[in-house]
Amino acid sequence: MSATPSPSLAQSVHFWARNAANESALLRASLRLGLFDALPVEGTTTACSLDALATATKSSPRGLRALLELLVCLGYATLDDTRRFALARHAATFLRDDAFLARLRAELPWWGPLSLLDEAVKRGEPVEHEGQRWDVLGHSRALFLEDTRAEATPGGAEDFFDRFARSGARTQVLITAGRLGLLELLASAPRTMPELGAATYLSTTGLSVVVEVLEALGLVTREGEAFGLSTEAKRLFDGKALAYLVRSLSVSAQYTEALGRLDETVREERFILDLKDPEVSRRFYADNSNQITAVFASHFQLSRKAATTLAKAHPLEGAAVLDIGTGSGVWGAAFARATPTTHVTYFDQGVVLEQVKTNLARLQVADRARFWPGDLFTHDFGEAAFDVIILPQVLNVLRPESLPGLFSRVARALKPDGVLLIAEYVLNERRDGPLDHLYFGLRRFMTNEGDLLSASEYGQLLQAVGLSSSVCIPLPTQEMILAARPGVALPSRLAD
Ligand SMILES: C[S@@+](CC[C@H](N)C(=O)[O-])C[C@H]1O[C@@H](n2cnc3c(N)ncnc32)[C@H](O)[C@@H]1O
Repeated sequence: MSATPSPSLAQSVHFWARNAANESALLRASLRLGLFDALPVEGTTTACSLDALATATKSSPRGLRALLELLVCLGYATLDDTRRFALARHAATFLRDDAFLARLRAELPWWGPLSLLDEAVKRGEPVEHEGQRWDVLGHSRALFLEDTRAEATPGGAEDFFDRFARSGARTQVLITAGRLGLLELLASAPRTMPELGAATYLSTTGLSVVVEVLEALGLVTREGEAFGLSTEAKRLFDGKALAYLVRSLSVSAQYTEALGRLDETVREERFILDLKDPEVSRRFYADNSNQITAVFASHFQLSRKAATTLAKAHPLEGAAVLDIGTGSGVWGAAFARATPTTHVTYFDQGVVLEQVKTNLARLQVADRARFWPGDLFTHDFGEAAFDVIILPQVLNVLRPESLPGLFSRVARALKPDGVLLIAEYVLNERRDGPLDHLYFGLRRFMTNEGDLLSASEYGQLLQAVGLSSSVCIPLPTQEMILAARPGVALPSRLAD
């Protein structure tokens, strides 16, 4: 059997910044809810349906499904053809072991205190959390610099512990290093610990823990007394990449508290970060649109590929395009650039559209733009008004019960030969992958937003509003669904 190649530093950093905290939160919530106990061990008795597990764990089926599909994808649970779940046999060897479970339970209370790592670093001493003092620096040191237990083999107990306890802590260390300006400082020149302390006005007791953990993660190396970015990290953070990482860590930080209380959300559908609250949503998406503006160039390549693909089957000259939930404007702008006569209407919350105007001016397509602020849950998009309607990464914002209503308003707004373009993270037909999509879906559930669907689940909803012809075409990082009324030509593959 060949060993799984270890991930590159780039893959690891991407994971730590985006999904590592989700991984710990998933496993912690599953333990807290008693899900590992409720799942029968694979092959020993009949596997359990989602509803039976929801009853046993007193959870919402929708929330529990988001956990279970991820556990299946990670190999800790199994899913059979009748959609019944069981605990994978190898996972049962440690998840039914009392001493191992006690070790996991001892880690449970640390999530909140670890989220105060910035404060612990600033003070260089334990921090207050819920009326108790927590030695966050000591705990981080113990997790990353002192625990020398057996090597973590994939799928084994130590690997599980690592995902359970350290994954989320890695995200937190990066968030803290980003917030304290430490990453930029280390990137600018190697410095000794006293020099780092002087440059940040922080205690070297706290700083040394973060810097040494970054060293253990392979991001920092030391030469003599000086710490600087490792060669691989320097390559990785070249150009604007470091600024982008720091910005995406600030988005990840917004999820920390809600991830720590994921079990409450799964049990009661009580949303700690509720993006259906207009004030929370405005704040969250203003930050998000700054971030997606930062990756405009790479998303623009994707959206231009999609526009070119659609243009092959459906000429865009003089077309009226509507981009719903436009964010940075990156999808609508690609259609505006497809021909000099395409007109695009950009629809989003007013606060987000301000950012779009700047981006469109830069691309010189502002003269063929219309800005339409509104609420996509209730907005009437008109009748037979658009040749193309784009729903780019926006359906996942809607709770499942809102989808039929939106699809029916969108279908009405499409001209008879119009095409609907959905860009989304589309799940496989078993709904147990891809892993990145499932983590994204978990965050959507957690924030009172939508569910991710498979291509056939989308197909059924679209059929119900008369868009019965549809294709799903993979793009590099997500999928594109094109839908239209019968007889309208649709491309079947991505244009070269
Ligand atoms: C995940 S972002 C997608 C942004 C962009 N389409 C892209 O692909 O980069 C979802 C967008 O939906 C918008 N949105 C969320 N709730 C909305 C609402 N109730 N009404 C209008 N827009 C909303 C957000 O402001 C955000 O820009």
